[in-house]
Amino acid sequence: MNLSRAADLWWKNAVVYCLDVETFADGNGDGCGDLRGLIQHIDHLDRLGVTCLWLMPFYPSPDRDDGYDITDFYGVDPRLGTSGDLVELVRTARDRGMRVIADLVVNHTSAQHPWFLDARSSRDSRYRDWYVWRDEPPADAAEGVVFPDQESSLWEYDKKTKQYYLHQFYKHQPDLNVANPEVRDEIARIIGYWTQLGLSGFRVDAVPFLLETERVQDTVALPDPHDYLADLSAFLRRRNGEAVLLGEVNLPYPDTMAFFGARDGGGSTDELTMCFDFIGMQQMYLSLARADAEPLADALRQRPDPPEDGHWATFVRNHDELTLDKLTDAQRAEVFAAFGPDEDMQVYGRGLRRRLPPMLDGDARRIRMVYSLLFALPGTPVVFYGEEIGMGENLALDGRFAVRTPMQWSPEPGAGFSTADPSTFPGPVVEGAYGPEHVNVRDQVRDHDSLLSWFRLLVDSYRACPELAWGAYTVLDPGPDARAVLAHRCDSGEPGVGCTLIALHHFADADVEAAPVLPELAGVTLTDVLDPAAEPVVVGDDGRLTVPLGPYGCRWLRAS
Ligand code: GLC
Repeated sequence: MNLSRAADLWWKNAVVYCLDVETFADGNGDGCGDLRGLIQHIDHLDRLGVTCLWLMPFYPSPDRDDGYDITDFYGVDPRLGTSGDLVELVRTARDRGMRVIADLVVNHTSAQHPWFLDARSSRDSRYRDWYVWRDEPPADAAEGVVFPDQESSLWEYDKKTKQYYLHQFYKHQPDLNVANPEVRDEIARIIGYWTQLGLSGFRVDAVPFLLETERVQDTVALPDPHDYLADLSAFLRRRNGEAVLLGEVNLPYPDTMAFFGARDGGGSTDELTMCFDFIGMQQMYLSLARADAEPLADALRQRPDPPEDGHWATFVRNHDELTLDKLTDAQRAEVFAAFGPDEDMQVYGRGLRRRLPPMLDGDARRIRMVYSLLFALPGTPVVFYGEEIGMGENLALDGRFAVRTPMQWSPEPGAGFSTADPSTFPGPVVEGAYGPEHVNVRDQVRDHDSLLSWFRLLVDSYRACPELAWGAYTVLDPGPDARAVLAHRCDSGEPGVGCTLIALHHFADADVEAAPVLPELAGVTLTDVLDPAAEPVVVGDDGRLTVPLGPYGCRWLRAS
């Protein structure tokens, strides 16, 4: 791999860390997380090896969807700080080699956004056509409701102007009309603004919803949604050649592929730079529930290669429900039974509102194996704040807020999140077995056996083995009697200087012998990346690599 190319395409082996400023760290003692608090804790992220921060929405908002309902796309929520603080954050992060990206939420605005207030004031409003209106809701108005616990239709009646407006999410989030060229210009301005302030790109919220224009009537038709996305992407790259678009596209693989663009079949992406691997994530949970690697192995075999300059973004948990919407009903029931049997743990009929460690009953072996997989699988790993210390959830909170509790820095009741009275926090700190007295950064920093130390080792190793991010990967046959083992190899292409990494991950609570066959590696000595003190393993003359693994064991073996 050419090093300057690797530096240009920095996202290919980035470590992305997602956080909500509001729940991460309070710098001014008012009980609410803020940009200054984040800046004060930046060295935690640096030591972890994070190379890209993804900030969840920090814009002014009535906060009815945790900031995904925006009233000013050009501002910073005053509770979190100022644009000045944001620039200081970008600058401080840069100093540590970290880039900053942010959520771009332009499928909809808050119903309290001045554009919508104006639009609904009269049918003649200058902003009327920035939203999507109809005289009557269509027959399929209830189809595709995203939050079935709160909404029963995608169309809401507006009494004053006697028409219905489209909202694919909550009714307080009216959809913007991207078929309107003025709206498209405004979205470009928003992107341009934050790029100018130093952001290195965006996590694009709800991409397929944003591009959905079939419901738009009586307006200029959007030429082709993918042409539009390609235009936006080209605009962003003109403004900042290193900027990325990380897209939330939860669709089957072939449909998701369309969002990378690259319709000329070339190596570069011309739409999204990265797409989350929702399918692989869901199949991984099925594998965990079954103690059988096959569902995940199968997904990885089916997963199309992204364009050469693009990548899949891999993740274990995010800020939303752990969606299982792409599993069959029977498969979803298996995962529910294994990891969220109580109705209270489930949400929207399709997902779990839990974090990983409680789902795995706190089994450290299993938790470590899952994160080892996150860094060993081809893709750009995305970590949700608190995962690095094994935070749990608080099911007493509403819906998805269960996993959005304050970051746990130290053992005090306020978790070191803030010096203010905990009753003023955006939400309560987790209590019980996963409370700050048991799970916090301060204790884990000093403990070589902690999950945090394991994370650091994984991040270091992942960064030191570029074949993981850059190489070609192959799912291997783990050998007879080793169905519970996911075996894969990553090969960096260049002859002579190439590297091969064989990764083994065991999904069952048993001893097993993995025995993949690697004919061209016959006789080659492999070193253990995660445990340099371990005896090297030699591939047999028949090409068979025999590796015993304990319950939920994992190994990264490298030939270089
Ligand atoms: C995305 C976000 C989710 C939000 C929704 C509406 O799915 O991840 O948190 O509620 O978009 O903006």
